[in-house]
Amino acid sequence: MQSGDVSEAVPVGGLSEAKRRLVAEYLACPSCRAVLYPGTRDVVCAGCGTEYPLVDDVLVLLPSGRDEVADRLRARYEVTTGGTSLPAVFRITRRMLGDVRGRAVLDVGCSQGQFAFEHLLPSGARAVIGIDFSAAAVREAQRRAVSIDNALFVVGDAMSLPLQSDKFEKVVITEVIEHLPDVAACLSELRRALAPGGDVVLSTPNYFNPVGVFKLIFDRVHHGGRERWTYADHSEELEHFQTPFTVRRQLAAAGLTVADFRGSDLWMALRKALLVPWLVFDHGLRRALNLLQRDLLSRTFLKYFGVVQYYRLRK
Ligand SMILES: C[S@@+](CC[C@H](N)C(=O)[O-])C[C@H]1O[C@@H](n2cnc3c(N)ncnc32)[C@H](O)[C@@H]1O
Ligand SMILES: [Zn+2]
Repeated sequence: MQSGDVSEAVPVGGLSEAKRRLVAEYLACPSCRAVLYPGTRDVVCAGCGTEYPLVDDVLVLLPSGRDEVADRLRARYEVTTGGTSLPAVFRITRRMLGDVRGRAVLDVGCSQGQFAFEHLLPSGARAVIGIDFSAAAVREAQRRAVSIDNALFVVGDAMSLPLQSDKFEKVVITEVIEHLPDVAACLSELRRALAPGGDVVLSTPNYFNPVGVFKLIFDRVHHGGRERWTYADHSEELEHFQTPFTVRRQLAAAGLTVADFRGSDLWMALRKALLVPWLVFDHGLRRALNLLQRDLLSRTFLKYFGVVQYYRLRK
């Protein structure tokens, strides 16, 4: 959308005073990293002078010079804006994140802000900033946060965060890095945004299990060697093949230290790989296995084989 189309769509009021304070305290120009001067209908970079518009009440802080691949990936998320489908992801992330009371928290790839509304805000976070490059998702989050003074959701890119450095005591990034063309750029941005002594909690799929074999074959045969993902009704334009070993290498290269590591959904790994119809193993058996893996398996060596891997990271 051109900025010319946009100004008409901005309702009277624009950014509230409370949200403008959050802009001034936490956000920065995604291109030159200078602070932003917040107005009610746009924000202006104090360094390069770029004006970033409010589009339908949402701040769009994308770096200039975006490429075609990035736009194609972004377009895919304009149609699917829901949150994670695995309940374990939020439950385990929440535990690993620890106490957020009074802390400034960043959620990268926040989608519609589910984790913020369900956990971060009710738990007393001082400020919550959510970033996602899906305008549709962020618009929904901003609509819900309209009268929440300490929450702000903006459109931005995880590989070039529109944020000041060293500001966030807690950073969450769940189920995002597997979809990024440049994971290293994102990890270095997370490190930059993190306050000294703070924690990043990151979750991402693990293919060190039978599902991985299935993915390798499917990517080779069906996707012509590209790292995609298709299962049942779910399809991803880009999903890296990753294991705890590949992810740990990337984390170390970005200067992030692993303080805690867990896994979840081992049962799902087996079920998906066997292509067992969803309903056959529902209820009793599934519930029992989920309970078993809840605490016990997520911390034993079996964590290396789950569908999801989790890290608490420090710099
Ligand atoms: C699988 S969803 C996970 C959403 C949420 N974190 C959760 O766990 O429920 C992936 C999210 O990452 C966002 N995303 C993908 N690539 C991104 C990028 N380069 N910058 C910012 N967000 C991105 C998508 O728009 C989508 O909302
Ligand atoms: Zn700038």
